[in-house]
Amino acid sequence: MPILGLAPDRYPTRPAHFDIERVIRPNILALHPYRCARDDYSEGILLDANENALGHSIPLSTKLEPEIQSALSLDLHRYPSPTHDPIKARLAELRGLPGIDHVFLGVGSDEVIDLLIRVCVAPGTEKILITPPTYGMYSVCAQVNDVGVVKVPLVLNGDEGEGGEKGRFSVNVEEVKKAISADPSIKLVFLCSPGNPTGTLISLSSLRSILEYEDFKGIVVVDEAYIDFTTQENASAVSLLHEYSNLCVSQTLSKSFGLAAIRLGIAFAHPGLVQILMNTKAPYNVSAPTASLALSALTPAALDLMTSKISTLTKARGDLIRGLEELQPLGLGAVIGANDANFVVVPILEKSGSGKPDNVRAQKIYKTLAEQEGVVVRYRGGEPGCAGCVRITVGSDEEIKVLLTKMRELLQTL
Ligand SMILES: Cc1ncc(COP(=O)(O)O)c(C=O)c1O
Repeated sequence: MPILGLAPDRYPTRPAHFDIERVIRPNILALHPYRCARDDYSEGILLDANENALGHSIPLSTKLEPEIQSALSLDLHRYPSPTHDPIKARLAELRGLPGIDHVFLGVGSDEVIDLLIRVCVAPGTEKILITPPTYGMYSVCAQVNDVGVVKVPLVLNGDEGEGGEKGRFSVNVEEVKKAISADPSIKLVFLCSPGNPTGTLISLSSLRSILEYEDFKGIVVVDEAYIDFTTQENASAVSLLHEYSNLCVSQTLSKSFGLAAIRLGIAFAHPGLVQILMNTKAPYNVSAPTASLALSALTPAALDLMTSKISTLTKARGDLIRGLEELQPLGLGAVIGANDANFVVVPILEKSGSGKPDNVRAQKIYKTLAEQEGVVVRYRGGEPGCAGCVRITVGSDEEIKVLLTKMRELLQTL
């Protein structure tokens, strides 16, 4: 069955063993998408969408913050564009893709993750594969959708998976392949690069190896929420999209762009998958204020500023790591993972000096930091390979200074 809305044969799929129409759930493939008013016309006397002709009722006052005033100047009583093509065009250009038909926009990448599961994986019978420790929403969305989860843990030292330095997390490609071959109901493989909480990039060669694995008929989703924070060149899987139609790369404006509040996530993928996501999403998922801010964030001037803030944060990441190293004699381990994101993960060890990670002490320090010192980090000690660990987001210079001072005090006393 062809994909509704996609010109047949315009977009060949690769590799040969991948057939997009076999990955998409039959009910989704057969879906006649809702045609919303703004799909047809967006100019003129608009009496087609039951909007409020008199506009919003927020009093206009000069006392309002300028940013609120500028938000109110948007046509807030009108439904927004269902497609937001100008944003897609800027994102396609930024990431080196041929056009807007390779770009889908969601309410954060969390919506992208949920939609991918909904369109590909049948509740009750089919599964996704994840590689713990990893971002928690893959499993949560799977559970919400009554979809099974197969787990193939990352390897810590790189001696079983692709080569990596000691302490780095790498995908156990051979085990992923084994799991796929053993269970044809796995439709999506979620890989996070740089990983959360590992901070570690997945090499493009590992990705290729899974994408080319003939037993896998599904889609590899590479979550690149933190990709702009790596200093490694050509690390993004977006460069593989022209070779592989069974790849979907998700990104977000929440991290490097500093726009977590506006909720804009992106899927870069083969136009067939993009069309399916478009056919399935809620008609006006991306709001007008979000779209307006996203467009502003994608101007050349904004991109320059973003790049300079990323340099500041990557330098601060180095300062944070060095500051944490100085605390090692007080029972702190070396940071784990590869630090390619805007956070670091560090194990808290037993006070006795045994060198062993200590979840009880880590939890105590984590809670005291938050409840008595007003510094909130994330406890990750329950994740595989992360015993005793807390994850610390790279803050401003001042925030890092406070964190290090408070950590020192608590490591001395707890
Ligand atoms: C790996 C990863 N993916 C996705 C997200 C969600 O991003 P968004 O704000 O775009 O929904 C997060 C948020 O922390 C994340 O860590």
